[in-house]
Amino acid sequence: MRTYRIAPSILSADFARLGDEVNAVVAAGADMIHFDVMDNHYVPNLTVGPLVCEAVCKTLRPVTDIPIDVHLMVRPVDRIVPDFANAGASIVSFHPEASEHVDRTIGLIHESGCKAGLVLNPATPLSVLDHVLHKLDLVLVMSVNPGFGGQQFILHALEKIRMLRERIDAIAAQSGRAVMLEVDGGVKVDNIAAIARAGADTFVAGSAIFASHDYASTIAAMRDALASAG
Ligand code: DX5
Ligand code: ZN
Repeated sequence: MRTYRIAPSILSADFARLGDEVNAVVAAGADMIHFDVMDNHYVPNLTVGPLVCEAVCKTLRPVTDIPIDVHLMVRPVDRIVPDFANAGASIVSFHPEASEHVDRTIGLIHESGCKAGLVLNPATPLSVLDHVLHKLDLVLVMSVNPGFGGQQFILHALEKIRMLRERIDAIAAQSGRAVMLEVDGGVKVDNIAAIARAGADTFVAGSAIFASHDYASTIAAMRDALASAG
């Protein structure tokens, strides 16, 4: 069975109690913290930056080394990458449309000491990976258009995930390089197994977890569904 990771997105957390919220999802069994950064420019919403990332790391680091998975929805990208690395990010992902030089940005993320991810919007073709997949640690498939939590999963993403799984497995067979396949948007208890069967191994869930009354039982229900996916 594949190793599955569940990454609660802070976008749906209660921001007035953010420290308690991230500690609560860690205690509830989260594998990563997904940190959505929006600039009201590349996407039509505005969230949080490196200062808040640093504060989140400060509250978590004494108790856990859980990865902080930063999803940058900002343009330009490069200026802000070292700030997130210094703020404690483990993985930094960005959208190719938001970077002038995708290969350079990947290099910059690695030089900053983080793992690098590329994010594919629903209409972004897999061909953007053609000359960079072998350098990436993660590919994030958006199953909603970026900018807001609580949107409906776009079913067509499943086909893209299937095709991407083939490419990622081919890279692993050739070079032994493990690339995470993460999915973001509309992931719920009742569709997570189908997304896993399509080939995803890492699941962002915002509203499904933070809008539920019991984070631990929601994450446990997701794990049960994943176990049934094989
Ligand atoms: C959307 C964000 C997502 C969002 C997902 O642009 O990247 O991470 O929080 O929210 P849900 O899980 O509610 O669709
Ligand atoms: Zn996200």
